[in-house]
Amino acid sequence: MNVVIIGAQWGDEGKGKIVDYLAHEAGIVVRFSGGANAGHTIVLAGERYALHLVPSGILYPDKMVVLGSGMVIDPEALFSELGDLVERGIDWEGRVLISDRAHIVLPRYKEVDKAEDARRRKPIGTTGRGIGVAYSMKASRDGIRLADLGDPDRLVNLEPEDRAFLDKWRGKLAPMIVDASAYLARHRNSWTLFEGAQGALLDIDTGTYPFVSSGMSCAAGAAAQGGIGPRHIDRILGVFKAYTTRVGNGPFPTEFDDDSPGSLSNYIRATGNEYGVTTGRPRRCGYLDLVALRYACRVNSLDRLVLTHIDVYDALPEFDACVAYKINKRLIEDFPASIKDLEEAEPVLKKFPGWQTPIDACASWEELPLRTREYIEFIEDFTETPVSIISVGSDRLKTIVKESPWIRS
Ligand code: IMP
Repeated sequence: MNVVIIGAQWGDEGKGKIVDYLAHEAGIVVRFSGGANAGHTIVLAGERYALHLVPSGILYPDKMVVLGSGMVIDPEALFSELGDLVERGIDWEGRVLISDRAHIVLPRYKEVDKAEDARRRKPIGTTGRGIGVAYSMKASRDGIRLADLGDPDRLVNLEPEDRAFLDKWRGKLAPMIVDASAYLARHRNSWTLFEGAQGALLDIDTGTYPFVSSGMSCAAGAAAQGGIGPRHIDRILGVFKAYTTRVGNGPFPTEFDDDSPGSLSNYIRATGNEYGVTTGRPRRCGYLDLVALRYACRVNSLDRLVLTHIDVYDALPEFDACVAYKINKRLIEDFPASIKDLEEAEPVLKKFPGWQTPIDACASWEELPLRTREYIEFIEDFTETPVSIISVGSDRLKTIVKESPWIRS
């Protein structure tokens, strides 16, 4: 059985925790896009793990993890991350596989990435990890795939320092490289989790272009870039937060305009620990944008939603969520493509009463306060997508499962 998990907002929705939680029942976890720009946080027995390239199933000693063909991989960052895992007692040898169709990020891509973003009149605010450069090289047919690392004909155009870099890592990478689609076909009876990076609104096609990343963070990417055919996807889950955050630049219709000390924005950032895992940048914060979330449900054909960070609202007497936009005095209910429209969009807000009690000890749907349940039910009705899992705290165990994706309904 194949379950896909993607972010349904602008990334940082808490996918790492949910993948880690669901990986308990999986045999294989496949990351299908992005690179070291991602930051997936998992809290286990009070210890915090930040993963960037390695799929979130690695913390279980018996899971295989695969870096899929849609990924762009900086070997230096990968081995540094694996080294950190070893230092913390996690043995990865023999459990990390890399698709032979994945691409390499060379060190100089990072400098080019930063220089190109600085040159833009409206910078994207990239993570500076060379991601966009690697995907550009892939699209222009100048990229380097793992499968071709040993083929001198494929490397003729490289500068001596690029070759020296590849020479350094070739031997260490070699035992990990596989034909991922053949591997997954051989293990078709395993339960496999496909982990998206970033989020639907940062996807190169479905996102707020050009203020997006350059990989496929939409659900379709699991098939195109994860190593299975689209017909073999059984379930698609979209993870979203009770509010919205965004790192880097680009339109954000529900962003709070007051970010001063004591503001709601600051409160949410501090309570939800809204700082980039990869760059440490403070995240921009705003209310939940249901127009954007409904769009993400539609373009990814989400079967179920997974709600995270709802406990961040515990102390609030009331809060809002955006149910439409006003653009040029017109009421807009569909998420627009135009950046200008999104920048001009004024959110139409609906108010919700807060529950003003801690919910992190709730272990079932019934234990959640009535007002929490009413907020979730409104989201389900609005998006026409049931919420099947609710995270009420960062620890793996603080998770309410209304319906497991592993059980066919
Ligand atoms: P890039 O992926 O480094 O090219 O950055 C492009 C945009 O995507 C920037 O706005 C980044 O902040 C954003 N971005 C990239 N990766 C993530 C992520 O994992 N979480 C949230 N935002 C991200």
